[in-house]
Amino acid sequence: MNFNNINFDTYFQNYPNDEGFFGPYGGCYISDDLKAAMAEITDAYYSICQSRKFIDELRRIRKEFQGRPTPVTHLERLSNSIGNVQLYAKREDLNHTGAHKLNHCMGEALLAKYMGKKKIIAETGAGQHGVALATAAAYFGLECDIYMGSVDIKKQAPNVARMKILGANVVEVTHGLATLKEAVDAAFEAYSREYKDCIYCIGSVVGPHPFPMMVRDFQYVVGEEARSQFIEMTGHLPTAITACVGGGSNSAGFFAGFLNDPVDIYGVEPLGRGTKLGDHAASLQYGTEGIMHGFNSIMLKDENGDPAPVYSVASGLDYPSSGPEHAFLRDLGRVKYDTVGDEDAVDAFFRLSRMEGIIPAIESSHAVAHAIRLAKEMKKGSILICLSGRGDKDMDYIIENYGIR
Ligand SMILES: Cc1ncc(COP(=O)(O)O)c(C=O)c1O
Repeated sequence: MNFNNINFDTYFQNYPNDEGFFGPYGGCYISDDLKAAMAEITDAYYSICQSRKFIDELRRIRKEFQGRPTPVTHLERLSNSIGNVQLYAKREDLNHTGAHKLNHCMGEALLAKYMGKKKIIAETGAGQHGVALATAAAYFGLECDIYMGSVDIKKQAPNVARMKILGANVVEVTHGLATLKEAVDAAFEAYSREYKDCIYCIGSVVGPHPFPMMVRDFQYVVGEEARSQFIEMTGHLPTAITACVGGGSNSAGFFAGFLNDPVDIYGVEPLGRGTKLGDHAASLQYGTEGIMHGFNSIMLKDENGDPAPVYSVASGLDYPSSGPEHAFLRDLGRVKYDTVGDEDAVDAFFRLSRMEGIIPAIESSHAVAHAIRLAKEMKKGSILICLSGRGDKDMDYIIENYGIR
């Protein structure tokens, strides 16, 4: 399929290019020491991860340990309550540990093991990536340091407990807003001190090359499975697909399965409390081009040009930028990026719980809310939602702050 002069038949061969660029976005803007470490990971990715042995081992782990393939569920009662459009969900909430994050964590940790590294380091926001990485570390017998802002530590107490039970060392980050951005900064700092013995396992399709590519490729399993499951269930492709975008990993993997299809693709950013800078984290909607955390993308900046404070009810979405591939797909017009605010996400959280017996993560609730809105506009057809995770981690926070609806 051709789209804005880009041939999507050959898209994955060309993007990113050898320097890690998706059009103008991406790259590797870090110190020379860390550049060497990234080059080592890139080489290992191409040589190890493409080998038959690695692919077979990862496939076995996905099946026997993660419980893949996760199903696609027809959300029949929810669909009927809206009109004629049929809603479906790709159930990453049923992936082991309750979210899509384990898909790339098992890949990254398996790579660390093949590279002979002893330790893996990462940041986490909602704690899902931290839990997934701690799980992978336990599975492969690796040490694991997880950096997490103190605000998120309070908000996501069950996930902090899970990481500790799994044997990870949770390092509290107290400076700045003490959320995801500061946790990424602190984890990178630690990595620059320790890169010889460990690898950084980034939590999304962000950071310097090769992470945006590597994480997307490990998450591609979501889109690949979803596409064939949906066709098997219904006999055709969905009219539209939608996924929430924080850093952008669940959406990148999910979208990758459909980029070359005649399917409308939507990414959903968090509008939080409103459009004022500091009240949301909708970087692709309101941001401008800039460099942070080692990559060039669209980001929200303050008056000094530094990453701006961001907010969302969903800890996993409050990041001031998005992966470079999302910025590229936005510019191409191949993916349309919309926003959903806290209130609509919380409504969708309760609606899916009550009508389908699925308690979604508050991050994923943004995609559910978007699908409900889209279904009202579309009148006919079908929408496949990436239900990136389950909401157990959010229940206490939602009840405390919003009550039972
Ligand atoms: C359940 C869930 N969905 C989505 C996200 C957002 O991350 P990404 O945009 O990388 O998929 C997170 C992040 O923690 C998450 O926990």
